[in-house]
Amino acid sequence: MSELNKIVLTGIQPTGMPHLGNYVGALKTAIERTNTNKTFMFIADLHALNSVHDAKTIREHTYQAAAIMIALGANLDNTVLFRQSDIPEIYQLNTLLMNLTPKGLMNRAHSYKAAMDKNIANGDDVDAGINMGLYTYPILMTADILLYNTDIVPVGADQKQHVEFARDIAGYFNHMYGEVFKLPTPVIGQETGIIPGLDGRKMSKSYDNTIPLMLPEKDLKKKIMRIITDSKLPEDPKNPDESTIFQLYKHFATESEIAEFAEMFRRGGMGYGTAKTILFDKINSFLAGPRAEYERLMANTDEIERILQNGAAKAQPVAAGTIARVKKLMLG
Ligand code: ADP
Ligand code: TRP
Repeated sequence: MSELNKIVLTGIQPTGMPHLGNYVGALKTAIERTNTNKTFMFIADLHALNSVHDAKTIREHTYQAAAIMIALGANLDNTVLFRQSDIPEIYQLNTLLMNLTPKGLMNRAHSYKAAMDKNIANGDDVDAGINMGLYTYPILMTADILLYNTDIVPVGADQKQHVEFARDIAGYFNHMYGEVFKLPTPVIGQETGIIPGLDGRKMSKSYDNTIPLMLPEKDLKKKIMRIITDSKLPEDPKNPDESTIFQLYKHFATESEIAEFAEMFRRGGMGYGTAKTILFDKINSFLAGPRAEYERLMANTDEIERILQNGAAKAQPVAAGTIARVKKLMLG
């Protein structure tokens, strides 16, 4: 099959304002794909339910996530943008796939293991705070992927295992009932690796060290100025590869700008304050246009809702086709 005919699908959890790490690690590749391929892009509100139990927050974050994808350039001519929970067939496929999924597969999921490890480290009961939504998260994600006949799933590196589970589960189904599902392939943003946060650890909402994508300019500057650095003096030569400032700059600058900035680190003579100002200017000029569009959309959530409903109207018949085939095979 030609690359351009492949169906792309990706989901974003509405668990808070996406940050630069989400953008570089996951969203960017998905958005780029919308220029060339038919793309299903949805806000995974059912997945967010395993950690967020306030409906108003989920709704608000759903609009934020949708507005961000549009503002950052998702091409709406090729993109079916919708809310996961608006398609009733997702609940059905999730239930049907439960019965083919070995419990042992879920035991191996990184996200579940990480939650257990945290409990053990804290001296808590191993299953404390872990609900079945978290435990069966990969089955729902498999249902998302298989419902829309997906070929390609652009995701961040930590989601790769989930897409591999989707391949496994599709394989079990096909083996038992006949070749129905395509086997999806994960696509990871080109060797971006892990984007560091303000404190140098992985940028993550759970570490409270993020640079959110859509902040007023003044707040973006304040955040960037808070990046933790070592105690080298302005005149000291510095290793760009050890600097969070440089690691972030790399993803927003051209090859020649990157080489020049690296040289300024190595040569010495540039203080961290100056380096942060250069980083701020770069990120701010990238985000200025999207920020204006984001703010316009968030002041018109009716428009976002219309786009999501329009997406749901296109996604639902595809989902219904899949469910009809699967139910016939599984239930007669
Ligand atoms: P968070 O850790 O902030 O809760 P999520 O787990 O919701 O982020 O991640 C959403 C997507 O963004 C995933 O596909 C993940 O791989 C990607 N991602 C998150 N943080 C980073 C990071 N620091 N560097 C690269 N990719 C990231
Ligand atoms: N689990 C993904 C994340 O946390 C979000 C997601 C839900 C998803 N369903 C999906 C991504 C299907 C790709 C395909 O980032």
